[in-house]
Amino acid sequence: MQIESNQDQTTDTTDGVCLLHERSYTQSRELQVRAHQLIPGGCHTYAKGDDQFPQLSPGFIARGQGCRVWDVDGNEFIEYGMGCRAVTLGHAYAPVVEAAREEMRNGTNFTRPAAIEVECAEVLSNMVPGADMVKFAKDGSAVTSAALKLARAFTGRDHVAICADHPFFSTHDWFIGTTALDAGIPQAVKDLSLTFRYNDIDSVRALFKERPNQIAALILEPAKYEDPRDDFLHKVKDLCHEHGALFIIDEMITGFRWHNGGAQTYYGVTGDLSAYGMDTRCPLWSDAATSWSLGAYSMIVNAYSFYQQHMVPNHMRLRRRLPQ
Ligand SMILES: Cc1ncc(COP(=O)(O)O)c(C=O)c1O
Repeated sequence: MQIESNQDQTTDTTDGVCLLHERSYTQSRELQVRAHQLIPGGCHTYAKGDDQFPQLSPGFIARGQGCRVWDVDGNEFIEYGMGCRAVTLGHAYAPVVEAAREEMRNGTNFTRPAAIEVECAEVLSNMVPGADMVKFAKDGSAVTSAALKLARAFTGRDHVAICADHPFFSTHDWFIGTTALDAGIPQAVKDLSLTFRYNDIDSVRALFKERPNQIAALILEPAKYEDPRDDFLHKVKDLCHEHGALFIIDEMITGFRWHNGGAQTYYGVTGDLSAYGMDTRCPLWSDAATSWSLGAYSMIVNAYSFYQQHMVPNHMRLRRRLPQ
């Protein structure tokens, strides 16, 4: 990997944004060299990789507070991405940090379940419409994969259909096999994953026509860059049920952000199965005295490039949804 020079300078007045930076990234660049020697790709999560943030980006983050982060060289940034949108309340949100610290004093991993697991399951099932039961897993990839496995077991069918316009569902083969990063995944597994387009109900109809009685489930995010049009989500659910398939909603990003009851409440539709993302690293939600999120993910620091990719307006749109 080619490491850039230590100085980045930008002047830009596009769209009213005025940036004038002169920053040193010396510590980050040194760490990057060490990281690439020890860790394939230089980090443990693809979305955090140097190739994802090639310009004007810090290499390593030292700490975050609210919507700001500081890199290992002491540069300060506004983090538009907020851990791939998982960190709804801001970094190191004090009530959540205190609740997590308090709970950790009791120990965190026992041979039998902890009482808080029941408490969390009760809170969640009361919040999410249509949720009868809750199963925790170790990460979002495991949860979406479990939902598909359940759908396959329930229907006795092997094929699954994935929304092609949504960028990420899982690190597991059923999803990664549909991307360009499909090395090492058997063709037989790849052949079981079909795709359809968001807001294109005809593409869903065509799938069921091509594969009658073969599709176990459809999975999609309720919304990504655009809202559902013309009752798209309701129509997909109806088509699924008409053809004996399950309708799975991935609320990893939208859950608790669109609405406390998830995007399902916001759009008035319920999934047969829903997947939510949680862990204990970043604050997402404080009411249950627990911190849940996907974990620290990607960092948006190059405002101009993100304007070009319509990311900033999209984040503004998401922000407007948050309860004030
Ligand atoms: C919509 C969506 N689903 C699933 C996942 C997988 O979650 P995890 O990274 O915790 O495995 C992600 C991660 O970014 C995601 O954005």
